[in-house]
Amino acid sequence: MGEGGRPEEIVLAFLAEAGDEFVSGEALSDKLGFSRTAVWKHVNALRSQGYRIDAIPARGYRLVEIPDRLGELELRPLLTTEEIGCALHWYAEVGSTNDVAKRLAEEGARHGEVVLAEAQTAGRGRRGRTWSSPPCRNLYFSVVLRPELPTARATELTLLAAVAVCEAVREAGVAATIKWPNDVVVGGRKLAGILAELAADPDELQWLVLGVGVNVNLSAAEIPPELRDIATSMAIERGQPVPRVLFTAGLLRALEAWLERHREDGFEAVREAWKARSDTLGREVRVRLRGVDLVGVAEDIDHSGALLVRTDAGLERVHAGDVEHLRAR
Ligand code: BTN
Repeated sequence: MGEGGRPEEIVLAFLAEAGDEFVSGEALSDKLGFSRTAVWKHVNALRSQGYRIDAIPARGYRLVEIPDRLGELELRPLLTTEEIGCALHWYAEVGSTNDVAKRLAEEGARHGEVVLAEAQTAGRGRRGRTWSSPPCRNLYFSVVLRPELPTARATELTLLAAVAVCEAVREAGVAATIKWPNDVVVGGRKLAGILAELAADPDELQWLVLGVGVNVNLSAAEIPPELRDIATSMAIERGQPVPRVLFTAGLLRALEAWLERHREDGFEAVREAWKARSDTLGREVRVRLRGVDLVGVAEDIDHSGALLVRTDAGLERVHAGDVEHLRAR
């Protein structure tokens, strides 16, 4: 965290860095160049926003608990990324973070600007579906990307996003895999989804908005009844809640790392990582294509990310569609 943030952020970053240790008021005021009264004022401002900070005479201040919120104040001190999250736009509630990010992209938002919301009233999924977005349980965000990439290669970024989400979920202790093209699943139940929307010139992408929804702390009872057999959350799978802000920082870090890898080495590294985490390859699948069902074994993804399905009629290349896994593993 740099010294250029708001005074509260700076105080918070120092307390966060000290972990369980107390930091004396004197040390804080020396380091930050604020008076001790100003430090006290900023500590109180943080408390009024839900931070629990112990204050003990002769020992100083200690950060005990941060609020379960994904605002700038909570997330910024944990971010280690350079591009992804360069600006954070936080909303308590919004229609869809993708819509906000698309508007920002049209208005010239930079590569890496992120829109986060605690709740969405019109969360959207792929193929016109809705995305259940209750408040303060999950993660809903969209990131504006401006990669130098031909439009035809946009799919690569959606598979890349699935790899990054899967990696971050696994780092948090949940054994997730990927269902083609970009659903993150555990035991066949969906944990996260990705919705990409873009604007393009004839050859080049202008911008691409990656919308990511992860079920983080939803309890089984909070999953809408019609989704109970097909959806899950990290907390359900882990048996304990996940600190959303830490998970979000880890996910943005994974996303930046994979984007950099893609920029330097191309799609092949992403493709290998996707295959290593795939829940689809090797399975018998049914794909609905233009109203027709195609059944076969998912053999591979090709160098554009299309799914290769071996059917009785030969090898089919599937560029888009919904895949159903026909047998449990
Ligand atoms: C899917 O698997 O159908 C995609 C789900 C994408 C949901 C996320 S939540 C954040 C962003 N805003 C939206 O309205 N949708 C995406």
